[in-house]
Amino acid sequence: MGDILELIKSRRTIKHFLPQFVSWDSVSRVIDAGRHAPSSGNIQNWKFIVVYEPDQKQAIAELCYEQYELAQAGVLIVVCAEPEKAERYYGLRGDRLYSVQNCAAAVQNMLLEAHSLGLGSAWIGAFDEDALKEVCSIPEEIRPQVIVALGYAREVPPKPPKYPLETLVYFGGWRRKIKDPAKYMNDIATILMRKGQAAHEALKEKAQSVVDKIQKK
Ligand SMILES: Cc1cc2nc3c(=O)[nH]c(=O)nc-3n(C[C@H](O)[C@H](O)[C@H](O)COP(=O)(O)O)c2cc1C
Repeated sequence: MGDILELIKSRRTIKHFLPQFVSWDSVSRVIDAGRHAPSSGNIQNWKFIVVYEPDQKQAIAELCYEQYELAQAGVLIVVCAEPEKAERYYGLRGDRLYSVQNCAAAVQNMLLEAHSLGLGSAWIGAFDEDALKEVCSIPEEIRPQVIVALGYAREVPPKPPKYPLETLVYFGGWRRKIKDPAKYMNDIATILMRKGQAAHEALKEKAQSVVDKIQKK
């Protein structure tokens, strides 16, 4: 198995594509990765609209607030949530939060699978939702969440800066930082091991006292 962290780190948002066809084999693999994402209660309340047709891609690019280069992508995949399904199970939290999270999990899987296939991809969230619904005949109750642009990269941009790990991690509470997390984990493991051993000894003694009592009778 390849190094998943390497794949995650080397993925880039690709906005400029070569005029090259993306096969259904690749597109279906990318969607397959999406549908295997985790979802709240495994409800899988997502649908994927595949757009290959040039005029429709152009119309979508135009409703993405001047992101015209998207029309050059081999394919655009509109990832849609079915919020009513999530609301039926989880109320407002399902409608507002889980539907968004479910689609986001699917989209990230899709970007990684695309990258592993040598395809470039972009997560597009800036679009006129009503106009997109019109162009893709999406019914009122369905929410298009993300457009995944997919194709062969014309250029791969340099990696944008990412915050260092130590600036993002707290231990046990907000803003609680630790200088040496490896030592901290090691100390905790030692304490837990000692506690475990003490509990084991206490249990053994207790069991022995019960055996002694029974034997005396
Ligand atoms: C919720 C969300 C919405 C985004 N919308 C757009 C978008 O409309 N257009 C775009 O070019 N990139 C969009 N992106 C991609 C980000 O700009 C990109 O992930 C970020 O700059 C970091 O670059 P990287 O993906 O190469 O690490 C979006 C990403 C997310 C998670």
